[in-house]
Amino acid sequence: MQINVKIKRYDPEADARPYWADYTFEAVGTDRILDVMNHIKWEVDGSLAYRRSCAHGICGSDAMLINGVNRLACKVLVKDLGAKITIEPIRGLAVLKDLIVDMEPFFDSYKAILPYLINDDPVPVRERLQSAQELEVFDDSTKCILCAACTTSCPVFWTNGRYIGPAAIVNAHRFIFDTRDHGTAERLQVLNSSDGLWRCRTAYNCTEACPRGIPITKAIEEVKRELLWQRA
Ligand code: FES
Repeated sequence: MQINVKIKRYDPEADARPYWADYTFEAVGTDRILDVMNHIKWEVDGSLAYRRSCAHGICGSDAMLINGVNRLACKVLVKDLGAKITIEPIRGLAVLKDLIVDMEPFFDSYKAILPYLINDDPVPVRERLQSAQELEVFDDSTKCILCAACTTSCPVFWTNGRYIGPAAIVNAHRFIFDTRDHGTAERLQVLNSSDGLWRCRTAYNCTEACPRGIPITKAIEEVKRELLWQRA
């Protein structure tokens, strides 16, 4: 099938403003959007810039706005989009070049919630045991691949880039509800700040955007309840 791909391109060092580049070529329905991007870069215009690595939905490098929806380019097939495809950088983060955005603010928020196990108890002889039921409480949150599809689909983040964002909150959830962790108070203090989780307006964009199927809005609500319970 013949497809038409429009890519929003921008090189801040060379272009006065972003512009749409237009590419028309033959593809097959089972090509992924990442294959389409690779074809353009390798066969048509080597200056096209985008991130990718694993090509299997694991590394989280290639989140893009594809036909108006945040997705991983390596997980979307041409046949599911049709012959007209638009690709833009994810929103709310500064464009460095074409589809590459500055991820530093996103990772600053991630680091702020202390994304590691905090437990100063003496190290046990064997592993710290946890029941299947205890794991189930936060298991979904462990699936985050930090692609930023959720945070950059959030209208609150678009208007306030300091908002800590759903990805950071869901990673806080991963540790707050882990029975082996003792850092809940520190994390909740971070999340209770003026740019923390109370900025969430329950738009559900994050849940819809997550390529891992994490019920992010539910996780955010659980952290809100935990914060209220701890303050009561
Ligand atoms: S390239 Fe790794 S998630 Fe798509």
